[in-house]
Amino acid sequence: MKDTLRPAGIVGLGSQLPGEVVTNADLTKVLDTTEEWILTRTGISERRKASKEEAASDLGTQAALKALEDAGLKGDDVDLVIVATITPDMAFPSTACLIQHKIGASHAAAFDLSAACSGFIYGLAVGSQFVANGTYDTVLVVATEVLSKILDPEDRTTSILFGDGAGAAVIRPVDQGEGFLAFDLGSKGEGGDLLKLPAGGSRKPTSLETIKEKEHFIKMSGNEVFKFAVKIMGDAAVKALEKAGLNKQDIDYLIPHQANIRIIESAVKRLKLSPEKVYINLDKYGNMSGASIPVALDEAARKNHIKKGDRVVLVGFGAGLTWGSCVINWSI
Ligand code: ACO
Repeated sequence: MKDTLRPAGIVGLGSQLPGEVVTNADLTKVLDTTEEWILTRTGISERRKASKEEAASDLGTQAALKALEDAGLKGDDVDLVIVATITPDMAFPSTACLIQHKIGASHAAAFDLSAACSGFIYGLAVGSQFVANGTYDTVLVVATEVLSKILDPEDRTTSILFGDGAGAAVIRPVDQGEGFLAFDLGSKGEGGDLLKLPAGGSRKPTSLETIKEKEHFIKMSGNEVFKFAVKIMGDAAVKALEKAGLNKQDIDYLIPHQANIRIIESAVKRLKLSPEKVYINLDKYGNMSGASIPVALDEAARKNHIKKGDRVVLVGFGAGLTWGSCVINWSI
């Protein structure tokens, strides 16, 4: 450990989406819904679906390799792999260990982190501490989700919302004043029942009964989650800005969690941002839980929406309930 903290920031990004596209029209063939309802209530037109053989580590590995290439690094340069996921390949070994092996990060430590849609921001917060205090030089944060595998295909309230994908970021020391300026993380466990996967853990191990009751699928009180999200997105972004000694007017670019266009619009209104400062891709991918923010960040960076010196704010919320935000002085 170093005596003084070093600035840490993102030096490489990558993302991976599965090939199959599921449109709203496709969903109307199997669900009691309409294309218009889905589009107007959520902003989603289509989402991606992993194949039967594809698991979280497969998408996560591809995103990780692209992020390393973007940073000009190899698997062997990585000191720590953190994977944020609620759809791990299996309960254990961790998906982080599977990815560590697949990318050839032969001397890296590896662990998974569970914070649902806030997982990528939690991962950045944890990973950046190791770089800041000098324990590690190179931390890889991956968020990867194959939510299609835990969706009830007959539940019109959830299967319209979610999609599969993965994103990754490489964190390294950066110049003074650059990189992560502040984080705000939070949780509200009393809201855990609003969004959960009831069976398959130690509380309710999988049984014929849990399968009959469809408890191996996501259960969500959508409207309650919606109300929570509308409030917390704006609050969390403002808190991180305050910690960084900044305010709303200092935001150059916002990457919000891509859950519902109405949630994003309300956060944008609260932050008084003009639409060209906000990246939105949920129309193409739906809500990919923890993977939504890094995929959006990767796309925004590749399209040159973000430039060196920009103050970029990431903000998300999710099951737990959890939330997280961070302010970055973009350094690449
Ligand atoms: N098609 C047609 N009608 C539908 C559909 C559908 N796909 N889904 C629900 N409805 C109906 C309901 O049954 C209800 O009918 P009723 O009035 O006859 O009872 C009506 O539409 C309104 O339902 P609400 O749930 O009140 O609709 P709402 O406007 O809240 O939209 C939605 C539902 C889209 C789920 C919204 O609440 C939402 O986006 N919530 C946030 C969810 C979220 O972001 N979850 C992820 C968190 S991130 C993570 O950690 C994974």
